[in-house]
Amino acid sequence: MIIAVDGPTASGKGTIAKALAAHFGLPHLDTGLLYRAVGRQVALNGGNPDDPADALVACAFPDSLLDDPELRSEASGGLASRVSLHPGVRQALYERQRAFATQPGGAVLDGRDIGTVIAPEAPAKLFVVASVSARAERRFKEMQAQGRAVALADIAADLEARDARDRSRAEAPLVAAADAVLLDTSDLNRDEAIAAAIAIVTKAAGSC
Ligand code: DC
Repeated sequence: MIIAVDGPTASGKGTIAKALAAHFGLPHLDTGLLYRAVGRQVALNGGNPDDPADALVACAFPDSLLDDPELRSEASGGLASRVSLHPGVRQALYERQRAFATQPGGAVLDGRDIGTVIAPEAPAKLFVVASVSARAERRFKEMQAQGRAVALADIAADLEARDARDRSRAEAPLVAAADAVLLDTSDLNRDEAIAAAIAIVTKAAGSC
């Protein structure tokens, strides 16, 4: 079974996707990490993330880059959002994601366009959302725990800018598939969000 988990930054989709993979015994791919690797590789190349040619060259990043902790930074997230606008980049990353999604036995993928572009046939699709304030608060706590000094207002502004870019891009914008189930995690803790996601997927699996 393919499980597609889409949603904006810091909505909880990554945590939910990992938990679904563990629960259903499926492999998991965080597709945002691929875009982050392209963004980071552009920076390492001294290129411009807004230039389609520079971004395309960076799609040939080495697999070892996927283990770079720097990919988890806000800076890499911002670069990822910028390179993800280029249709050539999306095309270059498509096959890798499609092959993962269609492997025998199924898979869980999380991202922005899994239910709409990468695996529109997925029988289980979740679109995970949360208010900007709930998402900013989560990011703030994560960064504080890492000992990083950041202002809550700056995080919220960054999230909103990233959302706007992801939602308004011409190709594969962040949008819920017509048959996705919406899961709002604003008022749910981690365990509650995971339990709700498992219930949604179990129901979808039962009806397919
Ligand atoms: O999920 P994330 O924060 O790691 O994603 C970083 C950026 O990558 C996000 O702002 C947009 C882009 N992205 C995308 O365009 N399509 C995906 N399937 C996953 C991520």
